[in-house]
Parts: sequence; structure tokens; C-alpha cells
Amino acid sequence: MKEPNIAADPAVLKGLDNYRTLTAAQQPTWTDAAKLQAARDELAVLPPLVFAGEVDTLRTRLAAAAEGKAFLLQGGDCAETFVDATADRIRNRVKTILQMAVVLMYGASMPVVKMGRMAGQFAKPRSSDTETRGDVTLPAYRGDAVNGYDFTSEARATDPNRMVRAYHTSASTLNLIRAFTTGGFADLRSVHEWNKGFTDNPANIRYEQLAAEIDRAIKFMDACGADFDSLKATEFYVSHEALLFDYERPMTRIDSRTGNPYATSGHFLWVGERTRNIDGAHVDFMSRIRNPIGVKLGPSTEVADVMALIEKLDPNREPGRLTFITRMGAGQIRDKLPKLVEAVKASDAKPLWITDPMHGNGMTTKNGYKSRRFDDVMDEVAGFFEVHRNAGTFPGGIHIELTGDDVAECLGGSEMIDEKTLESRYESLCDPRLNHMQSLELAFLVSEALAKR
Ligand code: TRP
Ligand code: MN
Repeated sequence: MKEPNIAADPAVLKGLDNYRTLTAAQQPTWTDAAKLQAARDELAVLPPLVFAGEVDTLRTRLAAAAEGKAFLLQGGDCAETFVDATADRIRNRVKTILQMAVVLMYGASMPVVKMGRMAGQFAKPRSSDTETRGDVTLPAYRGDAVNGYDFTSEARATDPNRMVRAYHTSASTLNLIRAFTTGGFADLRSVHEWNKGFTDNPANIRYEQLAAEIDRAIKFMDACGADFDSLKATEFYVSHEALLFDYERPMTRIDSRTGNPYATSGHFLWVGERTRNIDGAHVDFMSRIRNPIGVKLGPSTEVADVMALIEKLDPNREPGRLTFITRMGAGQIRDKLPKLVEAVKASDAKPLWITDPMHGNGMTTKNGYKSRRFDDVMDEVAGFFEVHRNAGTFPGGIHIELTGDDVAECLGGSEMIDEKTLESRYESLCDPRLNHMQSLELAFLVSEALAKR
């Protein structure tokens, strides 16, 4: 049988480039135009990282979540780095997400859509174009896809080749994720294994008990002669902030089966709070790709902004197409979210609502660390559940910054990390992440909230 091969519609291609006519916030200042063009040309012919069929499946999974029949767990680094794309670190992150998914699934008796902020999260928006230390001012670090973190003029110089390296690092990260999640590692019969190597803290002990219950249930079903393929593997999706046009545009391809454009740099892309301007380049570009997409909404968001975003990004009200990721801050979520949720509920739109309890809760410690209090994170999650309960809408997921490693970046949790501890185990180049134990603890708290909803 001949494969259909639908040629790209010139109007669609023109649409994808329309962003060039608009204001694109948060773009790096590339200094070498020839190098930039060469990098874009190279990216444009590299194989896609994800396949359109997977992206379509994800859309149906998110549609289920929007309907209250599944829960989205999205987590990973604030910013991935090239040096940290090692087997151990990727494995720890995947393990952490699998463990959290099991906790949520068990508590809520609901499918959990697993998604990493992984395999593409290499570009960061910054509040300022430059950074000053003492009397030296250099370009701000914009993520490994743009420049280096070290505070030297060599490192901070932008280099378009870094986007190509980001692609290859994403490819090897995704390859390992696919191997782990389909090659036996994620078999639910290994539910105990994922906890090994982590220290014996309260969250891990609680997890052990839950794993023992799951084990018993599986053994019972085995004894019954039931053999479920669905236990052996799991779907795992990857996502990142769609920030850099010079990366996302060459990675956007026309699907030969349908003629539709897909961003093939990841399954799910989101637009940040700083780039969600309705007339800006990012929203225009996102409106033209078929992937399910997210938009971050901070405390200044007005009802009119949300309605305009829906109109532009999901004009056909397609199930699973649009996710709103709210990041209001613990102190504001109960005031700011209700009006948005109520207005959308009264409309014909049915987006997925998820909470990002990280980005609205930043603070700086007395000893100078960028941190977040675990209690504030938890309080925003609780507020998110309250608001949705009052509105009769579904709190459909969480978006968190986490690492599978034993770092100390966020304050509190049952290990009671204090300001002093940050000095010894703070690794993040960007925002503070929940460590392994704090992530598990959060999963238990969310699963309780979901169960008693
Ligand atoms: N396939 C199911 C799912 O993805 C069950 C499953 C298999 C699972 N391995 C898992 C669930 C690991 C959570 C974690 O949900
Ligand atoms: Mn962040």
C-alpha cells in the first residue's frame, strides 16, 4: 500500500512563519547570523523527536483529564543542563515520576498521565537581558540551548550551535526515557525497585507500605491467571516551554499523513507567563501547531485574557487541546483563580486546569538562596483543590519542578530542610526544585486531596 504523502500547504507554511512579523519576547541576541542560519538548517533536517501519532494520543489523554477521568502529573527540572543529562540523573527523575504516579493512581483510582519537563527544557526566560555582579555586567544565562552558566564573557556569549546540542541531548534523554518506560523498568511488578537507593525517610517508608499492597494485589491477580500487558509498560510524554523560535520553528514539521503542522521537539509545549501576550509571536505560533499546548497563568491574569487565549488557541474547542497552568502563589490562589474558573465554566470551553505551585512561591533566604517553602507549595495545591471544589470543576493535574536527587533547594518537608542545609546541597542553576522525598510527600498529599474530592 502506498503511504499517503500530503504536501505542505503553502498557506500553512506561511502561517508558521507569521511569528516573524510579530513581537517575540525573550529571544536571545545571536551575534553571528551565518552560524544561526547554519544551526537552523541543521535542525530542520534532523529527525523529529516525537511522532504525530503520539502527540494525538496525548491529546486524547488530556481530554480525559479535562473531563475528570484522569490526572496529569508533569514534572522535571526548572532548566535541564547538558552535563546533567546522565543515565543516573535521568533514571532518578523517571523513577521519582513513576513513584509519584503510583501514589496518585492508588489514592485516586484514576489513570495518571505522566509527563516530564524533560528532553527539551533547555531555554529560560529572564527578567533582565543582563546580569551584574560587582562592576561586571554580562548577558544573562538563558539556558544551555543559548549560552553557558559560568559568569565569564566566553561562557555567556550566545552560540547557535548550542541549539543543535540541545536537540542531541534531548534525543538521548528521550531514548533513555523510552527504554525505561517500555523496556521492563517501569513494569508495575517493580514497584518496590523504584524506591531502592533512596534514604529511609517518612515518605519512602510510606511508599514501601503502598508498594507492598500493590504487590499483593498483583500477585493475587497473577494467581487468578490474569496477565495484564498494561502492567508492563507505561506511556511517558515529554514537554518543555516553547521559547526559542530558532529551535521550535525548524523542529516543526508537516505530518505527511494529514498535512498538519506538529512541533516535533516534544509532545506538549507551553507558553510562559512572560510570553503569553495575545498579540505576541509565541501565542501566534502556538495557535498554528497541532500539539496539545499549555499556557501559564499568573495572578495578574484577567478574565478577558483567558477568553482571548481560548479563542485564539482553541477556536474549535477541541478536547485536550488546551491546558491552563495556574501559578498564582499560595497567598493569592483563593482570590485570583475563582473568577477565571467561573468565567470559563460559563463559556463553551473545556480546558484542562492544572496547578503549578512552584513559580508563585519564590523567596530569597537570609543567606541568599533562591528558595521555596514546601508548606507554601502544599498550600497552593490545597487552594487549587478548594477553588475547583467550590466551582464544581475538576482539578486536573500538577506541574512541579523536581529532581530525583537528594538536593536541598526547597525549605521544609518532613526532613525539615532549613536555610543552613541549602548551603551544602543546592545544585539548581535556576529555580529551586523539590527533592526526591519532598516530591513523594507532595504526591501523597495530592492523592489524599484527589481521593476525598
Ligand atoms: N500502564 C499503566 C499506566 O501507565 C500501569 C503502569 C505500568 C504504571 N507501569 C507503571 C503506572 C508505572 C504507574 C507507574 O498507568
Ligand atoms: Mn522554573
